Amino acid sequence: MNEVYLNGEFLASDQAKISVFDRGFLLGDGVYEVIPVYAGRSFQLMGHLRRLQSSLGGVRMQNPMSDTDWTNMISTLIEKNGGGDQSVYLQVTRGVAPRDHVFPTGVKPTAFAMSNPLQAVPEKYKQQGIAAITLPDIRWQNCNIKAITLLPNSLLKQQAQDAGAQEALLIRDGYLTEGAVSNAYAVIGGTIYTAPADEKVLPGITREVVLKLAAQGNIPVIEQAVSEIQLKQADEIWVSSSTKEVLPITRLNGQAVGDGLPGIVWKQIDALYQQYKLSFIE
Ligand code: PDD
Repeated sequence: MNEVYLNGEFLASDQAKISVFDRGFLLGDGVYEVIPVYAGRSFQLMGHLRRLQSSLGGVRMQNPMSDTDWTNMISTLIEKNGGGDQSVYLQVTRGVAPRDHVFPTGVKPTAFAMSNPLQAVPEKYKQQGIAAITLPDIRWQNCNIKAITLLPNSLLKQQAQDAGAQEALLIRDGYLTEGAVSNAYAVIGGTIYTAPADEKVLPGITREVVLKLAAQGNIPVIEQAVSEIQLKQADEIWVSSSTKEVLPITRLNGQAVGDGLPGIVWKQIDALYQQYKLSFIE
């Protein structure tokens, strides 16, 4: 039985209970993080805690814990669940209060964390790439906040799955923003294009790593959204996220991307990414 953390306590997951009046449950009023853990250590933890703080600020909530408290709690949770490779999920909601759209006063936020084994990225995805479809970006105007309110993302991802694809690439006003659960990139003439980290996309922690590695590898990057037309003609398309790393999209809306195989720039970035991960583990 996995252990979870809830409001200061570690508990067996079937013993952890929250109130039906929790605003996370009633209103989706909360924010979250997903942090990959390699060899028992959280990867890019400071980046995730920084983004958690920024999401909390974005929804006018106080952080219930200091970075040190989060760090210690996460280490304990990883240890209790056997170390190795895990995926840690953190969630903070505005707490328990009678249902009202207006914020309650004097209520303590609910802090929750769980961890699960991290599934290795399937080798097939890296050899052959994955399929994606384009869909209208039906989300709100504050996609930089990692809110638990994931109904649009869930609908979009399900639509992709129903179409036999692994991801939905989202189009807003004719331009690619990101994936339903990932940041997105297009490679055109050897240059990597990705939407700027504004309110239309989540500022991905993996995206930060990718941009840093691209700079180290002297691969040009332009933080500019590509149009849907450019996307359909791109040499390469990729997505990135904490749990799936960087994956090539080789089929878009049933058509081959480039020559239909993972591209040369993706191979370079993936090699740099794997090296970076190894140097972190060692
Ligand atoms: N999702 N954009 C969206 C909409 C996402 O949901 C995610 C990640 C990302 C990538 O961010 P990062 O590199 O920090 O994981 C971008 C997580 C993994 C999830 O919701 O499970």
